[in-house]
Amino acid sequence: MITPKKIPVARPRLPPAGALAPYIERIDGARWYSNFGPLCMEFEARLAARFGLSPAGICTISNATLGLELALRTAGAKPGTLCLLPSWTFSASVHAVLEAGLIPCFMDVDDQGLITPDLVHEALTAAPSEVGAIMPVAVCGQPIDPAVWSRVAQQSGIPVVLDAAPGFDGARAGNLLSVVSLHATKILGVGEGGFVMSSDPDLVASVRLKSNFGFQGSREALTQATNGKLSEYAAAVGLAGLDEWPARRAAFQAAAQRYRDNLADIPGAWLPAGWGQDWCSTTCVVGLPEPACLMPVLDSLHGAGVETRAWWGRGMHTHRAFAGYPRLALPVTERLAETILGLPFYIDMTFEEIDTVCAALRQELRRWPESGA
Ligand SMILES: Cc1ncc(COP(=O)(O)O)c(C=O)c1O
Repeated sequence: MITPKKIPVARPRLPPAGALAPYIERIDGARWYSNFGPLCMEFEARLAARFGLSPAGICTISNATLGLELALRTAGAKPGTLCLLPSWTFSASVHAVLEAGLIPCFMDVDDQGLITPDLVHEALTAAPSEVGAIMPVAVCGQPIDPAVWSRVAQQSGIPVVLDAAPGFDGARAGNLLSVVSLHATKILGVGEGGFVMSSDPDLVASVRLKSNFGFQGSREALTQATNGKLSEYAAAVGLAGLDEWPARRAAFQAAAQRYRDNLADIPGAWLPAGWGQDWCSTTCVVGLPEPACLMPVLDSLHGAGVETRAWWGRGMHTHRAFAGYPRLALPVTERLAETILGLPFYIDMTFEEIDTVCAALRQELRRWPESGA
């Protein structure tokens, strides 16, 4: 029997050595390796320009998990209170909530995997004790509108922090703190890294202070803080990544379009609204028509050598570390967990590989009357 060629679920590719060289040479010349050095400041300024902010609107950070923790502290989330967040997220969101001294309270999402102001409104009534923070999550990189959440924060008086970790391309700036990851697996990656942004420079300055031992122009610690700085080497990768961003995005978009074209004739299979068109991310998730499809579809894909991933498992409320924390009714999350499948997706995925994935999907799904096929 011929074993099919394996198609991995992810295959990150950061800028190559040649693209990094000019930046690394600048580091060699300056002999400045961290502590908001020249490359880091240039990277922040270029990110700020991309998001229509002044340079003071961006603070780079060593990873988004820490960025979320510092953002929650900065936003004034009262320790000991509940933080409403979706169970349909990556564990980092929950760890950040706990590290900020809050108690996660898992709430349900809409059919796109997002919490909405209406769902939060209901959750605020159902929550078992005081809610001190709200954390919407751009779970597979969808845009989350800061203006909408700013209104929720204003009307409820509850601090809101946006976990836009997977959403570099879809992220938008607003007056709330948004946190974006630059992990190697993300669409713009530096290895480990991230940034926190807001149109309110005071909020960003406060995150910076907390990420730098509480230092601001002297060696006196002004506040409780940690070390969350991004190194100059990571900033070099980020700058090279921004140089190649248009080509990078276009390559992801072309691969996403191939998925779209293929899935168009697989009724019942769906992609998140706008994915690969209005916004790109490295997570390709396909929705199946019903839970009973999942196992046979997995068998079909694995038989064709296609790796898959349940990116968010069965929801964070099922993780041993988080099972003891409060949760509200989660019917949509439970259904998503049984119908959403992470498929291979990477910058240089060939059309042939995408067609192989989709053929395996098509082969199984056409058997399902519920798919309408
Ligand atoms: C929703 C979400 N939040 C937070 C994070 C954490 O990002 P980082 O790996 O930069 O700490 C991730 C990473 O994948 C994520 O998907």
